[in-house]
Amino acid sequence: MQNAVISARELTRTFGDKAAVNRLTLDVLRGEIFGFLGHNGAGKTTTVRLLNGVLAFSGGSATVLGLSPAADGPALRRRTGVLTETPSLDERLNARDNLTIYAEVYDVPRDQVNRRVDEILGLFDLADRSKERVGGFSKGMKQRLALARALLHRPEILFLDEPTAGLDPQAARQVRDLITHFSRQEGHTVFMCTHNLVEAQRLCDRVGVMEHGRLLAVGTPVELARQLGSRARVEIEVAAEHVQRADSLLRSLTADVSVEHDTFMIGGVEREFVPRALAALVNAGVMVYRVAPAEPSLEDVYFALHERNETS
Ligand SMILES: Nc1ncnc2c1ncn2[C@@H]1O[C@H](COP(=O)(O)OP(=O)(O)OP(=O)(O)O)[C@@H](O)[C@H]1O
Ligand SMILES: [Mg+2]
Repeated sequence: MQNAVISARELTRTFGDKAAVNRLTLDVLRGEIFGFLGHNGAGKTTTVRLLNGVLAFSGGSATVLGLSPAADGPALRRRTGVLTETPSLDERLNARDNLTIYAEVYDVPRDQVNRRVDEILGLFDLADRSKERVGGFSKGMKQRLALARALLHRPEILFLDEPTAGLDPQAARQVRDLITHFSRQEGHTVFMCTHNLVEAQRLCDRVGVMEHGRLLAVGTPVELARQLGSRARVEIEVAAEHVQRADSLLRSLTADVSVEHDTFMIGGVEREFVPRALAALVNAGVMVYRVAPAEPSLEDVYFALHERNETS
């Protein structure tokens, strides 16, 4: 696929007779934030490890930034950043030293290390604590530092495995803002495993849903909802004096109509219903104040996908 920075074809990894990742075919596009969803044990972390060449394939193929994870692991890992599920920071060292050591390992040019470390400590709001031992940091600070570390060498793809797990709402938001910042401002591609569906809906351009090592579906939440045949819900608010007229008109167009004061709730319609109803109302001289198509929630889509998979 054009612009794909990750391409997996039938990628498979077994442990014993169990396939942790089972014939995964997937493209991730340059610059997008891609959400990788699935229950515990679905194969998300295994996929991240395969794509970074830290785990050998059992079958299939993949290229990441045009490189083969299996053959070009070290070269590839200089161009990707990985925030693992349980990032290991050196708790005895301070934040600055943790970053400096990592910068050296990842070949950040020597004359740039200090500048880059300062810059990223500032961005991550860690500058005034940079001389403290990391062992004394809160979980949120450690996670910020781990994310800072993953970004230090300006990776083209950032892999994040549950980046906000266990963080309080404020710390989680801070991490999300940083992810958005790096993706939008610096053009990094982000591949993010998460259990947080609200977070995925807010942050991700597209998502893939895994179950037992298999990819059930991939797309934007709206596309997934359409594939599932989910129907939209729409609210239409009209002028109080036009409720009667709007009521008979809307009921002539669809069955599931209810009204409260001057707002109609319409359920179970195709997306195309919205412009059609709107045109009809306006043509009939109804003053329409508000139309609110309720987007399908990723949560609904996620559970519907698993349900469909179980019953098929
Ligand atoms: N090194 C390993 N040895 C044996 N089995 C493994 C190993 N790594 C992963 N597995 C198995 O592969 C499956 C997928 O695990 P994986 O860690 O990829 O899931 P996950 O989607 O990341 O789950 P979680 O949401 O809990 O992090 C699980 O059944 C797990 O037990
Ligand atoms: Mg995992």
